[in-house]
Amino acid sequence: MCYRIALNFEDGITRFVDCKKGEKVLDAAYRKKINLPMDCSDGVCGTCKCRAESGTYDLGDEYIDDALTGDEAAEGLVLTCQMVPSSDCVLSVPTTSQACKTGQQSFAATVTRVQPHHDAAVVLELAVEDTAAAPVFLPGQYVNIDVPGSGAHRCYSFSSPPGENQLSFLIKKIADGLMSNWLAGAKPGDQLTLTGPMGSFYLREGDGPLLFLAGGTGLAPFLSMLEVLARAGSQRQVHLIYGVTRDLDLVLVDQLAAYADRLPNFTYDTVVADAASDHPRKGWVTQHMPEDMLATGKVEVYLCGPPPMVDAVRRYLDENAIQTASFHYEKFTPNEPQKAVA
Ligand SMILES: Cc1cc2nc3c(=O)[nH]c(=O)nc-3n(C[C@H](O)[C@H](O)[C@H](O)COP(=O)(O)OP(=O)(O)OC[C@H]3O[C@@H](n4cnc5c(N)ncnc54)[C@H](O)[C@@H]3O)c2cc1C
Ligand code: FES
Repeated sequence: MCYRIALNFEDGITRFVDCKKGEKVLDAAYRKKINLPMDCSDGVCGTCKCRAESGTYDLGDEYIDDALTGDEAAEGLVLTCQMVPSSDCVLSVPTTSQACKTGQQSFAATVTRVQPHHDAAVVLELAVEDTAAAPVFLPGQYVNIDVPGSGAHRCYSFSSPPGENQLSFLIKKIADGLMSNWLAGAKPGDQLTLTGPMGSFYLREGDGPLLFLAGGTGLAPFLSMLEVLARAGSQRQVHLIYGVTRDLDLVLVDQLAAYADRLPNFTYDTVVADAASDHPRKGWVTQHMPEDMLATGKVEVYLCGPPPMVDAVRRYLDENAIQTASFHYEKFTPNEPQKAVA
């Protein structure tokens, strides 16, 4: 029996290690050639201190208070040279992946489907043939996809759940965009190289109410999270607000309707900004916030979309002094415009 330990490094890279029952995390990482920070490996120096973001574990009983105080342990800090997991865990490692002599992992995937949604977005589906190479990631994380023939890559959040050989992505069509242009001619059988997973935007375990705020194709990571919640039979209260510019940008709403059937406490609203739209909810996401839900101060907020939308929501929460149990966001920051070649 093994527990899957996600190691989130400071540079945004995540690596997974399988920790055998009774094994210490430091040893499991070392087997995978990941040199987590350590000095003594005896629970004395504190060099291996990390933060456990989720999961259950035994802290070990052979470390001294100078290495990990009771307060630190209560806060979720752990010594990886002593910690023995008793479930899957997520650990934040306070250094870069490079410093731990690891880095990004690349894998190959084949295009199985390219489904355009008007001029708004494309659903890209890929298959990873080598089962052993299927990416492990946390729901909400993203991967870099190389744009064939360009030497460049673009970041995309998985919209499919972790642990599958079939991957999917929801990608905005950008006029004359590098990836957008490639996708316009993409067909089943095309090969792609992906590198990752990455990012600290992922669904944390817990049972508190969740508010998901998606701007445009920022819906992608929430589809992955919703699938994970649905498969786990989650009873959590989840409200999603999906805001877009035009009616045509509202894609995959049928999938949200299907989650409303599968998840007993899931509700969602769609919002369209275009003043000319007949949509029942117009304007910005911030004009349709669930005030009763937010008033409890217990909501865990996840926010993903283009930078102006993310900034507007953050401002709204600040200006209205809204307290949340936790707040996580991902900005779909575009790449710099291509410079003209002289
Ligand atoms: C962590 C992360 C995760 C991401 N996940 C997703 C995802 O799941 N789905 C998704 O659709 N995108 C996502 N993005 C954005 C994505 O990486 C690309 O920026 C986007 O798809 C444009 O790529 P392109 O090659 O088609 O256009 P580019 O060639 O990069 O852009 C062409 C021109 O358009 C501008 N531009 C690019 N995007 C926009 C925009 N939205 N609005 C206005 N101008 C723009 C560029 O600055 C450039 O001038 C993510 C970005 C980050 C950082
Ligand atoms: S390596 Fe010294 S306390 Fe863990």
